[in-house]
Amino acid sequence: MSYKACLFDLDGVLVDTAIYHFQAWKMLGENFNYQLTEEQNEQLKGVSRVESLNRILDWASYSATDEQKEAWLKEKNDNYLHLISNMNPSEILPGVVDFLGQIKAEGYKIALGSASKNAEIILEKTGLMPWFDLIIDGNKVSKSKPDPEVFLKGAEGLGFSPAECIVFEDAQAGVEAAINGGMKVIGIGEASVLSDANKVIPNFIGIKSADLLLF
Ligand code: BG6
Ligand code: MG
Repeated sequence: MSYKACLFDLDGVLVDTAIYHFQAWKMLGENFNYQLTEEQNEQLKGVSRVESLNRILDWASYSATDEQKEAWLKEKNDNYLHLISNMNPSEILPGVVDFLGQIKAEGYKIALGSASKNAEIILEKTGLMPWFDLIIDGNKVSKSKPDPEVFLKGAEGLGFSPAECIVFEDAQAGVEAAINGGMKVIGIGEASVLSDANKVIPNFIGIKSADLLLF
């Protein structure tokens, strides 16, 4: 299959922000004496902020009012914004810029498909913004991954069918979102976690644009 566009998740694919989300949620959990584990954090990858809070409160068996939840969502994001305030290009994951350069040179269109409402801040801080033809982020969708909305909007916005797009994802929910949208998906991370992806690679080191023809 020859693809026309590459759709990239942000957190965990282009930059390693999972650690900052984890820290920010752990700090929030102190409000209700809950200690989030790394295994639980894995299940929050790709999941929207509000859905993440709902899951954490569920795990903690804590029932909060809507007002309380609003305040905690703000607090978590304030924690997160503080943690990412010094992000810079050194936090781009290995091999990413080289791969983006190759696909751009070959004429592929490039879109972001992220659940994060902070995506543009991170793209600016890391200098990744100029690579993107289209940004679809958490401000532009109403349904959380594994719903395919974020990737379908990406494909549509670039003017391609789902079959002409290939998605890069590090989260189970994101892999399912791509599959639900009828797209091929490359998992970034461990095959044991991302078993539904069409192919799993540990990172972008040594990946060539010509490899896309094999996926
Ligand atoms: C995803 C992350 O990309 O964005 C999740 O994997 C995060 O961990 C979600 O909760 C929403 O991000 P934000 O920046 O809008 O809170
Ligand atoms: Mg991700």
